[in-house]
Amino acid sequence: MSVLTSLVRMWLTRSRKPFSFVDSYDKTLPYFDCVNLGLYIHIPFCKSICNFCPYCKVLYDKELCDEYVDCLIKEIHLVGKQHEGIKRCTSLYFGGGTPALIASRLQDIMSAINEHFHITEGVGLELHPDNVNEETLRMLQDTGVTKVSIGIQSFQDKFQGVLGRKRIDAEKIKEALDRVKFETVSMDFIFALPGQTFEDLKGDLDAAFTIGANHVAIYPFIDFTFTSSKVEPLPKKKKRKLLDDITSYLLSNGCVRDSIWTFSREKQARYSSMTRDNFLGFGCSATTLLKEQFKINTFDVKEYCQRINSQESATSLTTRFSLRQRMIYYLFWMAYSMRINAQEFERFFGVPLQKMYGFEMMLARLMRFVKKNNEGYELTLKGAFYYHYYENYYTLSYIDKMWGVMRKEAFPKHLEL
Ligand SMILES: C[S@@+](CC[C@H](N)C(=O)[O-])C[C@H]1O[C@@H](n2cnc3c(N)ncnc32)[C@H](O)[C@@H]1O
Ligand code: SF4
Repeated sequence: MSVLTSLVRMWLTRSRKPFSFVDSYDKTLPYFDCVNLGLYIHIPFCKSICNFCPYCKVLYDKELCDEYVDCLIKEIHLVGKQHEGIKRCTSLYFGGGTPALIASRLQDIMSAINEHFHITEGVGLELHPDNVNEETLRMLQDTGVTKVSIGIQSFQDKFQGVLGRKRIDAEKIKEALDRVKFETVSMDFIFALPGQTFEDLKGDLDAAFTIGANHVAIYPFIDFTFTSSKVEPLPKKKKRKLLDDITSYLLSNGCVRDSIWTFSREKQARYSSMTRDNFLGFGCSATTLLKEQFKINTFDVKEYCQRINSQESATSLTTRFSLRQRMIYYLFWMAYSMRINAQEFERFFGVPLQKMYGFEMMLARLMRFVKKNNEGYELTLKGAFYYHYYENYYTLSYIDKMWGVMRKEAFPKHLEL
């Protein structure tokens, strides 16, 4: 990690202490009193593995997948039974991997969830384009899925080729989406691919809205150190121009930017498995964020099953936040939604944002990264680009390092970031 990143971290957390992760965990997780609790379930199976993808996944194997789902259900009960009563939650997201591969077991998982949690804002699930057919979509809808996110990446064969993915059959996707309706249909695209122009990206996004999306996510390509991808992302200047141009295009065509990476074409369309407040994660590599701690489950499917089958937590590493560390984490993810709400910050921490980070917010205003509004601050176009830029940096300095270790070792003893 560069000296500058460490200095910035020390300044913002007012401490020399790094984020320190250890292999211990709480037997009882203090989630019951959390307001705005989200749920996340990870399904780490794919029919084929993409060489650019950093997520925790293995090749699909029916027997292993069935055993994994049985364990997932046990983990939900293990955590759910820690507190009496039904806990109210905002949303539940299934991510992967390829969650649709367990569509026939989704009802079993939902039954376990419903024994302990009450979800108020819907259920989201990630789809591979191959999963978008009427039969699968109906099965998802029947089990309560209200939002889907489809990993398109690009409709153009040349970019699918660069990423090593198959050609997309847009017509087939449109037919299925016409027949089975969801409140949110989001489509993921990767941008800043070699040679990619504004026209390329605009064509992809126009096509997404034509075939049934009401929400799009545009992720900058990230070259993780442990993936085998040979893709060279666009240089910073070209990336910024592409991002600014596509943002202006989407905003002038009736979209609202609801986060750094996502744009919504209809008011109710939202797809965000990330929340700055609190969430519980189930399954391999799933993370849990609570008021004073962040923890991550093992990446190893067999070790995960073994722990759960012996009624133990599958937690691999836990960090306990200092107050300032938690505030920075909170602000980082709040800024991801393009706004910083001072009242919400004060409600969560019991102290005014101005008192804790008044100087930093003034600097951010002077540098025109944010401007003031009634709630606190909103990110400017410049601020959003630099957020993108630092998020890329953060991903490579923190997430890349953590995932790199966890892919090799199921239960590392200690990790400092
Ligand atoms: C779990 S995948 C989506 C669902 C499904 N597995 C699929 O591939 O279609 C999540 C999304 O992360 C994004 N993604 C994966 N690797 C990435 C990388 N190296 N850089 C940027 N975005 C990436 C892709 O847009 C992908 O759709
Ligand atoms: S991008 Fe999707 S399909 Fe490809 S390996 Fe990653 S999770 Fe699996």
